[in-house]
Amino acid sequence: MRHFLSIKEFSKNEIELIVKRAIAFKTGRSSYNNILKDKAIITIFFENSTRTRTSFEMAAKRMGAKVINIDHNQSSIKKGETDYDTIINLSAIKPDAFVIRHYHSGYPYFLSQFTQIPIINAGDGTNEHPSQAILDAMTMFEITGRLDNLKVCIIGDIINSRVAKSHMWLAEKFNWELSFFGPKTMLPEKKWLSHMHICSNLNEALKNKDFVMLLRIQLERESGQNIPSLKEYARFFGINKKNMPDCYIMHPGPVNRNVELSSSLFDEENDKILITRQVENGVFARMAIYEFCLM
Ligand code: CP
Repeated sequence: MRHFLSIKEFSKNEIELIVKRAIAFKTGRSSYNNILKDKAIITIFFENSTRTRTSFEMAAKRMGAKVINIDHNQSSIKKGETDYDTIINLSAIKPDAFVIRHYHSGYPYFLSQFTQIPIINAGDGTNEHPSQAILDAMTMFEITGRLDNLKVCIIGDIINSRVAKSHMWLAEKFNWELSFFGPKTMLPEKKWLSHMHICSNLNEALKNKDFVMLLRIQLERESGQNIPSLKEYARFFGINKKNMPDCYIMHPGPVNRNVELSSSLFDEENDKILITRQVENGVFARMAIYEFCLM
């Protein structure tokens, strides 16, 4: 059994293994039926989710597992039980894994010190979103046939983004040329930047890249306070038909239409826009993560 807490903790070989297993599941080269037969998985999301929660559930069910989704608003947390006590009590029921999203950075790691049951981090605060990084890496590998030496720019609310943090670890392990662009109030601190570059304008951010990853302005984390308005953001940092670069566009979702990406571009049939492919790949990436942790 293994926890799945952060991209930081995994080796390059382990990440490549998970990505290649995800692709093997998708292409049918490896069967996933019944791999998790007789396993029971508890999901508990202390923050909202559509893609991550559903694809973890879909992956588990397709692999033959039973899934118990805990709605924390309907649980005894509402009677004052702590999140920690909730997980310790649920551990006594003996599931085979927990899939946990929590609004506190580091909370899945904290919990992992108190339970032998594998904890899969489905996103913790502004720290990491490792399963998103795996599905993004899978999507990049499908397109380019490699993970090494990619040229990637991430645009948007970098400081609040757990996706950006997990991608920084991918960049370090796979020797990416990783750059960032966004409002100054949303850019990372210098100490993060030993291997990374801050672009000075949108042209530079979009030029000569394999992938541009757009990030959502996270209004729930009050990042709207760091920009004059969403309209201003769209004007200086948004991608639309006029400035669409000659590279692949990714976005972890959910997309704020007409903010980071124009609605017309989002709705267009365009092979260079990978957003729904990322969501599709999320199921196979999470299958590979279950296999890695439980088998
Ligand atoms: N990408 C992502 O984490 O989306 P959800 O918040 O909908 O799970």
